[in-house]
Amino acid sequence: MATPLSELELPTVEFDFADAEEHRNALLALSKESWIAKGVFAYPIFKYEDCVAILRDKRWHSAAALAAEAFGVNDPRLKERRRQSILSAEGDVHTRLRRLVAPSFSPRAADRLRPFMREVMNSLIDPVAKNGKCDLATDICDPYPIPIICELLGAPKKDWQLFSRWAEDVLRIFNATASEELDVIFKAQDELGAYTRQLIADRRSLPADDLITSLIAAEEAGDKLDEAELEMMVEAVIVGGTDTTRNQLGCSIALFAEHPEQWKLLAEQPELAGKAVEETMRYFGAVRATGRFASEDIEYKGVLFPKGTLVTPSLSIANRDETVFNDANIFDITREPAGQPQMTFGSGIHYCLGAALARAEQHEALPIMAQRMKNLRIDGAVTWKPSTVAIFGPENLPISFDPE
Ligand code: HEM
Repeated sequence: MATPLSELELPTVEFDFADAEEHRNALLALSKESWIAKGVFAYPIFKYEDCVAILRDKRWHSAAALAAEAFGVNDPRLKERRRQSILSAEGDVHTRLRRLVAPSFSPRAADRLRPFMREVMNSLIDPVAKNGKCDLATDICDPYPIPIICELLGAPKKDWQLFSRWAEDVLRIFNATASEELDVIFKAQDELGAYTRQLIADRRSLPADDLITSLIAAEEAGDKLDEAELEMMVEAVIVGGTDTTRNQLGCSIALFAEHPEQWKLLAEQPELAGKAVEETMRYFGAVRATGRFASEDIEYKGVLFPKGTLVTPSLSIANRDETVFNDANIFDITREPAGQPQMTFGSGIHYCLGAALARAEQHEALPIMAQRMKNLRIDGAVTWKPSTVAIFGPENLPISFDPE
């Protein structure tokens, strides 16, 4: 007989809004005691094998569409505006969408953009290289993914700033402070929707060699994406593909700044870039957790999770699981693959659709940065996004390095 979740004696997690690192260390300590805890909004899951098991179990559904409600927002406009996205879709609906769009997100499609990624990174470093000083978060990481996503979609360069703002504002819906930001979120959703519809209409009349054209053409056995699905997919790319990448790059460089010997090693051996991407994402991932709710009563590990239970697989803690990663708390870009992947791209059916692109973006960026920003060090007060944000990273990262 499974024990009802409510009868378990679980350690509790206080959401420490002040300090994200303290929060992570507290979770790491808790994960030694228990595989599950009781949080303010949900039940965090800590161990690698449990996170994977839950993310691969189709009875656990994505909580993407419920995030704001989980944080206590009950504005009626939320329900009116709720639309299905690939991240919130489940079952056959999700399988069909994923099958139709997956070829457009292949590693080969991402590889075509690699020369452009190098060009973008070099052009961002050029203006700061002589001084050997910059705010890495605002000068380099924030702008980096925008031209790449625009190039991928085939959107005009003049719209880069708009993309950047929309992506950031729309993603506020996943923050624990969403209730204070609803007007900003809704305005960004509306503007982004109108823009996307225009972009799709343009490509229908004038096809090009880009992702939108490829999504319009995507067809399998006579099945195609309809207009609303196309719009949703383009928005998913703009929203899912910008804030994630920029914050991950910020987290990765902040981590390297604490490990100068690893930075030097990467500059000397740029062929370590692939391993460096996996290791930075494992050790310090920008997406620290995701959410799932029980679509029915679920028994797991002798525990009965009643329908509706919200759990948060803690990707950042699973990434430090000693049973999967040797010396998990050591950052080492020469680490041999553990046989199981780092978890920052998730797992199961919602595994990051943009993973090949995100990997390529970092794979191209990191060695250029290591070679052109030698002896990188923190030079001022680093400010971090509040730990309430869903996608975490530095707000400001003042650094200096050897001038060119
Ligand atoms: C370092 C950068 C990135 C990180 C850390 C990241 C992380 C993630 C994670 C953890 C998920 C799964 C969420 C869940 O299971 O609840 C996800 C899904 C997704 N990501 Fe990413 N992502 C990144 C970059 C990108 C890029 C560049 C794109 C677009 C080109 C993208 C598009 C998506 C989409 C569309 C989904 C939903 C997939 C589905 O539900 O089937 N991501 N991402």
